[in-house]
Amino acid sequence: MKAIKVFPIPSPVETEGLVVLVDILRATSTIVAALAEEATLVKPVASVDEALLYKEKGFLVAGERGGLPPEGFDLGNSPREAYRMVRAKVVLTTTNGTRALGFVKRAKAVCAGSFLNISAVSKFAQRFDEVLILCAGTEGELALEDFLFAGKLALKLESYTSANDAAIVARKYADNVKEVSREIFSSHHARNLIRLGFKEDVSFCTQEDLYQVVPILTQEGFVALKGVEDET
Ligand code: MLT
Repeated sequence: MKAIKVFPIPSPVETEGLVVLVDILRATSTIVAALAEEATLVKPVASVDEALLYKEKGFLVAGERGGLPPEGFDLGNSPREAYRMVRAKVVLTTTNGTRALGFVKRAKAVCAGSFLNISAVSKFAQRFDEVLILCAGTEGELALEDFLFAGKLALKLESYTSANDAAIVARKYADNVKEVSREIFSSHHARNLIRLGFKEDVSFCTQEDLYQVVPILTQEGFVALKGVEDET
């Protein structure tokens, strides 16, 4: 029986299957957009200092603390800046999204999910008997937009009938949300980003299926898997 589990906040996860990392606002949306716009690599790192070390290795340094790019960074954490990442190697550090990767203890594969590539992720996920959706949350708390994505993805994976309680609740919640954008705009994180002047980033991140790319984690960082076919 195929199994799906949702982790609403970062928790240590292990699986013989797939982990889908989710930070809708904005880290995984940025990773997806960067690779869709032909960045060659997105390397997630934990700290600002570590990210800056990659500058002399020819990387573009991107990310945020408190929503804004730290001093010395080339770019922030905006999916709308992806056009500046064409053919670039990018190093990315964010408060919650890249940090959540540290909770993946073992997995056959790790990919980045967002509304921008939700159908491509759902097709890719069908290669695995177990799918874990790891929500980055916001500073240890549940983030509405991540949990909503988890539910929408879990609904697409309807043949995954073994579900943990969080996946059951996420499916019910997502099934009741008809307007994804409106719902996300009501979230704490969206309101915070709007206050910082990133309303257009929030809008951008609510778009479904803008891209067909699935970012896959390798030793070097996330690389693009393109043109994923439906395997059911
Ligand atoms: C994070 O990882 O905490 C977010 O992506 C923050 C942000 O919205 O830039």
